[in-house]
Amino acid sequence: FKTRILHTDKDNFRETVGEAAEMIKKGGTVAFPTETVYGLGADAVNPAAVKAVFRAKGRPADNPLIVHVASKEQCEELASTIPEKAYTLIDRFWPGPLTLILERKQIVPDITTGGLDTVALRMPDNRIAMELIRISGRPLAAPSANLSGRPSPTTAEHVIADLDGRIDAIIDGGAVRVGVESTVIDMTSEPPAILRPGIVSRNDIEREIGRICIGYEDKIHQDIEKVRSPGMKYTHYSPDAIVILLEGSNEMVISKIQEMLYDFRSRGAKVGLLLTGESNEVLEGDEEFLLGKKDRPSELAFNLFSGLRYLDEKKVDVILADGSFSHSGVGAAVRNRLRKAAEMIIKM
Ligand code: TXA
Ligand code: MG
Repeated sequence: FKTRILHTDKDNFRETVGEAAEMIKKGGTVAFPTETVYGLGADAVNPAAVKAVFRAKGRPADNPLIVHVASKEQCEELASTIPEKAYTLIDRFWPGPLTLILERKQIVPDITTGGLDTVALRMPDNRIAMELIRISGRPLAAPSANLSGRPSPTTAEHVIADLDGRIDAIIDGGAVRVGVESTVIDMTSEPPAILRPGIVSRNDIEREIGRICIGYEDKIHQDIEKVRSPGMKYTHYSPDAIVILLEGSNEMVISKIQEMLYDFRSRGAKVGLLLTGESNEVLEGDEEFLLGKKDRPSELAFNLFSGLRYLDEKKVDVILADGSFSHSGVGAAVRNRLRKAAEMIIKM
């Protein structure tokens, strides 16, 4: 593959997106910006094209893709049943960062849905994405445009770092607006269930359709006991940094980070810190990244994946992350991503 990098500015917008749309029609793979993160798009109803997406990302075949549409009609062509509540959410939140799981029509191939009878659909709130879908005339299957297991990309540079030489093209649309992936809600169950938190919060949704439930579990797989010997973990060979997430009150998190920082350094580790405004004032690591103010969770969301990539680039051995921000609303999405990134979660 020779990956083409397409730039859009006012003069050549349609031309550039038109070029990318041609690639999509021929079964190609094109990374494009959405409001949440960059997606790696392919014609969702062309199995060979979708297969190329899985291959480029190294994504396990049983993990289904989100299909991006540009109209309600396109959604109706792919979903067999659309409950009233789903229409309510579509009218309220589309285009926007909310993905609906609906029963699929047969036109959606197995490879796109990982063999499930349901399909994940969303309409992105981004002009490039919308034009790409419209001009190609195809629904776009698009997972986040990162190598499987890496943080989601929020800039074209992140995509290039992961996928250059593995895909046909990247449309550079600058930095995204949101920074974490869309909220995913399963509309085939009653009550509907949130499968992944995003910036459209549980409250936002319940205001429209009444009670829903939480269908995901934030993993917690570490207790304080094991963390008494962090060096144990550190001796394991790992090409990328080990992420340790500290949750609790501001003061406790800061003093625990201080303690662990000292411990890791005395073992010769290079320590990166993922900080909020508050912890940034008192802590100093070998490398640091400021996520933002704790009382501005959308700032934390916007910076999270950049921060993880930044510290990885600095080749730190360990990342200590300040998780002392509020976990309601957008904070739930940030906590969920941090917990997924973490090898260890310490709750205090
Ligand atoms: O914001 C986003 O959603 C971004 C942008 C590119 O739109 N896309 C994204 O896609 O995050 P991906 O593939 O990284 O995440 C899709 C999530 C996965 O957790 C997948 O398991 C879930 O949606 N999913 C997709 N289809 C599903 C289905 N039929 N049933 C349940 N979960 C599904
Ligand atoms: Mg992803």
